[in-house]
Amino acid sequence: MTSDAIEHVRNSYARLSGSDRQLSARFYERMFAAAPNLRRLFPDDLTSLQGHFEAALALVIRNLNDMAALKEPLRDLGAQHVHWGARPEDYVTARDALVGAIGSLSPSWDGALEGHWRDAITAIIVPMIEGAAVHTALEAERIASEQV
Ligand code: HEM
Repeated sequence: MTSDAIEHVRNSYARLSGSDRQLSARFYERMFAAAPNLRRLFPDDLTSLQGHFEAALALVIRNLNDMAALKEPLRDLGAQHVHWGARPEDYVTARDALVGAIGSLSPSWDGALEGHWRDAITAIIVPMIEGAAVHTALEAERIASEQV
């Protein structure tokens, strides 16, 4: 992402209307509306998860200019998500739900801003999906090494 695009996303994040929890609540609402099968992967009460999700998002937005530093932590987060049942295509559903939720809370929203947000969220989900793949490959190797 260019530094202008990063600035655009940061300013937009700072100007989102509503509380932090409102963004994550809308995100989950939209994700489950688009893919009702995902609801069963999550706990009934999403309150604490909303806090974790918001914190992760805020951290990434702060560090968009140095995503290399976040690559490993995001890969680890993606590896954890394998156990929670997240598949690569679910990340695309999540990205679209998050862009939609952000748009619904943005006082000004246009195609350029939507594109910048899509790029920012893609920069989050790609290392997560990679982390899941590496985790799965390492599991395969571990299982293979058990053979006599
Ligand atoms: C933008 C992408 C995503 C981000 C930034 C993200 C972030 C997080 C974070 C920070 C946690 C809490 C981790 C912890 O408690 O240690 C979490 C938990 C979880 N995530 Fe995600 N996530 C993303 C996408 C997804 C997707 C696509 C799915 C699957 C459909 C998913 C399913 C879950 C589940 C099931 C949990 C655990 C719920 C529990 O505590 O039982 N996430 N996620």
